[in-house]
Amino acid sequence: MTYSMEADLGAIGNLKSPIIVVSGTYGSAKPYQELLNSQPIGAAVTKTITKAPKSGNPQPRILEGKGWIINSIGLENPGIEAFVEHFEEEYATASYPLILSISGESVQEFCYLAEKAEPLSTPIALELNLSCPNVDDEGLAFGLKRERITEVVTECRKISRFPLIAKFSPFQAIDASFAVAAYKAGVSAISLINTMPAMKLDIRRFRSALGFLSGGMSGPALKPIALKMVYEISRSVPIPVIGMGGISCGEDAIEFLMAGAKAIGIGTANLVDPTVHTAVYSDIRSFIEENRLSSIRDIPKLLSR
Ligand SMILES: Cc1cc2nc3c(=O)[nH]c(=O)nc-3n(C[C@H](O)[C@H](O)[C@H](O)COP(=O)(O)O)c2cc1C
Repeated sequence: MTYSMEADLGAIGNLKSPIIVVSGTYGSAKPYQELLNSQPIGAAVTKTITKAPKSGNPQPRILEGKGWIINSIGLENPGIEAFVEHFEEEYATASYPLILSISGESVQEFCYLAEKAEPLSTPIALELNLSCPNVDDEGLAFGLKRERITEVVTECRKISRFPLIAKFSPFQAIDASFAVAAYKAGVSAISLINTMPAMKLDIRRFRSALGFLSGGMSGPALKPIALKMVYEISRSVPIPVIGMGGISCGEDAIEFLMAGAKAIGIGTANLVDPTVHTAVYSDIRSFIEENRLSSIRDIPKLLSR
């Protein structure tokens, strides 16, 4: 029996695999890009790029616990100008599609980033990381106001020739109205979820165990929460949802696809084992064969209530 492992991301196109390496856990180091060339991935998302270069937060930036990590990288990146200048050469060895992640502190900054990205030929989409502080709104997280989501998507849509993806934090994914606002303003897909704000204290040094006060939690502990959000939001908007949060094996990935995700993202598990994608892909394929499906699109149809 023949079947398809392609992920249909609508306006973004078809990916040859439903597995995406998510933002912040994908690097541009050549040996790593080469390693991923032999992995069955559909796309990879760059680290989030900002207007000005950022050197990131003090060390330690990653802590590990039972079923989770907390990171406080602080969006370390070279800034959009240096990124664009070196992009083609830096990602030249990657044989899979790339998605460019950007984040601004205001609508104007998002527009600036979208404009700077215009000359690039390689990315298949721009992912708007909407979980950042917004200076226009007295420090309120950018996406915590639906009007801001509408505004940033509408303005970037006018500037960019790339399909847009809105990436949400758990706070924006807790209710589908944020995704609906982003869809109405013109995004082609929704990515969820970003990390959950979290902290760890060092009780012997009477301070945060991280170099920074707090960070974002990811990994297996995030999975049940992310899964429910993907289930709800994929039923609320007619555009593809890319589901992520704690996926570390084939069973996790199949749960997200069954809940309604059109593709799945792997982050923390990729840091643990950058070949995890092969095992996840093979498990999805076996599941499709065992259930005599014709494509991953049939997986959600198996779900009864
Ligand atoms: C070390 C690290 C850095 C991250 N950096 C970014 C980032 O720059 N932009 C972004 O949108 N998400 C970032 N994320 C969030 C991931 O893309 C993903 O949404 C989240 O970790 C949940 O997936 P996971 O549990 O598979 O890691 C980062 C996650 C980790 C662990």
